[in-house]
Amino acid sequence: MMQLSTERCNEVVKKDGEVISQASRMPYYPLVVKRGYGAVIEDIDGNRYIDLLSSAAALNTGHAHPEVVKAVTEQVKDFVHYTTAYMYHQPLVELAGKLAEITPGDFKKRVTFGLSGSDANDGMIKLARVYTGRSKIISFVQAYHGSTYGAISLSALSLNMRRKIGPLVPEIHHIPYPDCYRCAFGQEEDTCHLECLKQLEIAFRHYLPAEEVAAVIMEPIAGDAGLIIPPRKYVDRLYGICKEKGILFVSEEVQQGFGRTGKWFGIEHFDVVPDAVIMGKSIASGMPLSAIVAREEIMQAWEAPAHLFTMGGHPVSCRAALATIDIIRNENLMQHVFELGEYVKARFNRMKEKYDLIGDVRGVGLSIGVDLVKDRVTREKAGEAAAKICYRCWEKGIILTFFAGSVLRIQPPLVITKEQMDKAIDIIQEAIGEYLAGDIPDAVLEVAKGW
Ligand SMILES: Cc1ncc(COP(=O)(O)O)c(C=O)c1O
Repeated sequence: MMQLSTERCNEVVKKDGEVISQASRMPYYPLVVKRGYGAVIEDIDGNRYIDLLSSAAALNTGHAHPEVVKAVTEQVKDFVHYTTAYMYHQPLVELAGKLAEITPGDFKKRVTFGLSGSDANDGMIKLARVYTGRSKIISFVQAYHGSTYGAISLSALSLNMRRKIGPLVPEIHHIPYPDCYRCAFGQEEDTCHLECLKQLEIAFRHYLPAEEVAAVIMEPIAGDAGLIIPPRKYVDRLYGICKEKGILFVSEEVQQGFGRTGKWFGIEHFDVVPDAVIMGKSIASGMPLSAIVAREEIMQAWEAPAHLFTMGGHPVSCRAALATIDIIRNENLMQHVFELGEYVKARFNRMKEKYDLIGDVRGVGLSIGVDLVKDRVTREKAGEAAAKICYRCWEKGIILTFFAGSVLRIQPPLVITKEQMDKAIDIIQEAIGEYLAGDIPDAVLEVAKGW
């Protein structure tokens, strides 16, 4: 096994533990980043890793893409920032036009910018309420939408996030996400009659007046819930209900957007056109930026200053975002994502035939989850296995994490090569073998806590 030297990293991590709030960390291993290029990052001890995380799906174009670096540098030389609340700048206007162009829907759209996926979710709650004059919002059990009050209120993934901070934003109702691998209603895909969606119909019948619901905010693939892909018939039916009841259908694309799934936005894998799209993370290749893109009549319903941030629509981030769009187009990344994604799934599916530990392999494009289970029948999550395997992969030069307790998260930068991907998968396979042979000590569980 490769023996990592992490002396300098350990020192920084120790200091970090003395000064940084524990609320802001979900640790996996002591990696202190020094630099990155493409799908590779290097730590301050000089160790190199193939990155399968992309800074939590925020670096689709990879680390330090030369075009992004150029755009950012040029902008910083001109001016770093001037608030768009009072003044105007060109990158903002140009970017808004491009976002409207790539967002689904053949109608006029408008854009508002922020800094993080969380604030865009908050903004969407406000916008939906203003536009519809209705107060209630529907979100999903297991969803993660961020850390601001609105975003936490939309989320329903972690008790630690919600404990003791109440009251949360009221009138947000959670329905089950259609999780076909662990169906809460005991169905398999061929016996399913969308029992999960019937929960919404029951709610509408008994305690949740549909005419008071402003929006459904849904991830087209539930990311942090463990990469759950909803069946097409579910999305069709839910969308139909929204249209019938005058409820906005909002696609939350913070994690799945910007080419991650082989299309600009995850919702394009379904036959529905959202009224609004929430964006963040990879929009600006690692620079802070978020956006809501919505039908013009929706976006014009609220009045100034309903939603603005001093730093929102930052010109450096906007320039990075313009470069991001060009890179995804010019390097034909979505085709690459589609082809490589199918290849990666096939490799993990072959591994699944060998190891009962792998319960399910699912994903679209380069948003892939490998769900580890203690038992293929009960589908009980194998959390310790996930933590140990991720830790061992780090020791062998692969940045691998897990979410939803048991799901290995395969979301590399979209620029990753097939050779890098093959090497990473070979190492994951080795780590699985070593886990099964009992070669990964329990002590690593003290470090690899995960998500
Ligand atoms: C789907 C989704 N929405 C929103 C967020 C929050 O984004 P941010 O951390 O940029 O506020 C995240 C972050 O993980 C996310 O995955």
